Amino acid sequence: MSLRSIRIYPDPVLREVARPVTRFDDELTELVGDMVETMHAAPGIGLAAPQIGVGLRVAVVDLSVGEDPEELLVLINPELRAGDEREADSEGCLSIPEYTDKVIRPASVVLTASDVSGERYELEALGLLARAIQHEIDHLDGVLFVDHLRGLRRERARRHLKRLVAKEPPETAPTEAVAR
Ligand code: NI
Repeated sequence: MSLRSIRIYPDPVLREVARPVTRFDDELTELVGDMVETMHAAPGIGLAAPQIGVGLRVAVVDLSVGEDPEELLVLINPELRAGDEREADSEGCLSIPEYTDKVIRPASVVLTASDVSGERYELEALGLLARAIQHEIDHLDGVLFVDHLRGLRRERARRHLKRLVAKEPPETAPTEAVAR
């Protein structure tokens, strides 16, 4: 396994719609292994393949950041059904360094995805796990968490993204939050 470099905004790959996985082979196993290693090293609680420049519908999520192997989720060709209730919580993204904000999302989801062997599974998730899953699946459609912000929050995000484009330091000190 090897560490892959994480693509940072405004890398155009972050805006592309990723393709479904059609072959569950050694190459895919290697990709998933590299993604897990890269996510843990960052450290982050989630990573999507486009974030390492690979346009495939693959993501990994691990709220334990490597502490508990049972918490590792591999999402290949994922599909979501979202619950009706919504909640706001803080998010960050490994591809948008030094920026966090509160995003409103469905509080619960039912995930259907394939694991690395191609087996479909279903999982019901709440809270932070539901949020991380939605954040990663957004990446597969070229969507970033800042796209969900509105009003003043959107303005603040826009200023930060401009600084990333210009490679300037952030406006304010980063707040403590987990990155995905
Ligand atoms: Ni992210």
